[in-house]
Formats: sequence, C-alpha cells, structure tokens
Amino acid sequence: MKKIQISPSILSADFSQLGNEIKKLEEGGADLIHVDVMDGHFVPNLTIGPPVIKNLRKYTKIPFDVHLMISPVHEYIENYANAGADIITIHPEATKNLKESVSLIKKFGKKVGVSLNPKTEIKTLIDEINNIDLVLVMSVNPGFGGQKFMPEVLDKIKELKKIKDKNQYHFDIEVDGGINFSNSKMVLEAGADILVSGTTVFKENNGDIKTNIEKLKSM
Ligand code: DX5
Ligand code: ZN
Repeated sequence: MKKIQISPSILSADFSQLGNEIKKLEEGGADLIHVDVMDGHFVPNLTIGPPVIKNLRKYTKIPFDVHLMISPVHEYIENYANAGADIITIHPEATKNLKESVSLIKKFGKKVGVSLNPKTEIKTLIDEINNIDLVLVMSVNPGFGGQKFMPEVLDKIKELKKIKDKNQYHFDIEVDGGINFSNSKMVLEAGADILVSGTTVFKENNGDIKTNIEKLKSM
C-alpha cells in the first residue's frame, strides 16, 4: 500500500499566527510543510521570504517543502537554503540554466524539485529528471489558493509515473492546487506520491486540520 504524504500549504493559514499554525499542522500529522513563496513578478501575488522562513524554522522539525514562484530564482537559492528550506522547488521558466540551478540546490545539500505549470510540458525538465528529487505538478495556474483543480493535468501525472517506473527514477510526484476530498483519490491513482493542500486542510470541517489531513491520507 503506497504511503500517501500530505504537504499542507501555509498560503491558506492565518498569516498573523504562522508559528502556531505550523504547530497545528505538525500535531495534525502533516508529512511536509508547503511554503509558497511568491514575488509579485513570476506570479501576480506576494507572500513571504527568507526572514519569515528562518523564524518559522524553530517551530517544527517537519521538512519545509519550499515552492519558489519567483523569477529570477538562481540568485536567491542560497538565501532559502540558509533560511532552513529542506526541499527547494523552482520553475524552469524562472532560471536561465535549469542544470546549474538544480546543481546549486544540491550543492547546499537540499532536495531539489522542479515545478511544471499546467501548460509546461515534461520535456522542459527531461534532461534533469534523473537528478531531481521531486516533480511538482501544478494543477492550477500558480499565484493563489482556493482555485479549481484542472483535470487536464491528470494525463501529465500519468505520463510522469510511466517515465519514473520505466526508468526507475527516484523522484516523487507532488501535485499542487485545488486538491480536495473528491479529487484526491483520482490524483493518487494517476501516480501522485505527495498531495499539496491549502484550502481543504485549513478550511474544511470547520478548520479541523487533523481530521482533514487524515481524510486526505485515507483516500
Ligand atoms: C498556488 C500554490 C498552491 C496553493 C494550494 O500558487 O502553489 O500551493 O497554495 O492551495 P489550494 O490547496 O487552496 O489550491
Ligand atoms: Zn505551491
């Protein structure tokens, strides 16, 4: 039985209580903490940066799954590595040289993720696929929580799963955006290993984080 991992996105958390919200995620059984970093340039929204991540680090030992929706990204990788990120995920469109950015993340001893927007094809990362730890498949256009899941990405997840199994690559498939109780089973069956969820984890069942995480894991 595949172990389902849940990486709740703090984008849907109460930003005035982020430390306590992270404690609640830990108590609720989160496997990773998904930290959405947005710069108002690569995506039309602005969230948090290294100083906040550095301050949140002391609240939990759970790995920080940092999703960098920033461009340019290469020059900032060191800042996020030093702030306490455990996984650093970048978008191929945000770097001049994906190979160099992937190896820079690894140089800091961090796990490396590459994120594919709904319209970005697998071929943009295929040359690096054997060097990366995570492929983050966006099932919404990045920038905001609470958007509707885009079912057209299911084929991309299935394709990635086929490539992974055929070549015995080690990367995890993480899916991000609009994940809820009615589509999570379908996403897992398509080949996802890790589900990102903000709205469902923080808002369903009157915000009962533990119940929501357990329900997503039981799919
Ligand atoms: C969107 C972010 C997602 C988003 C997920 O740009 O990358 O992680 O916060 O939030 P929900 O689960 O509400 O779609
Ligand atoms: Zn994200």
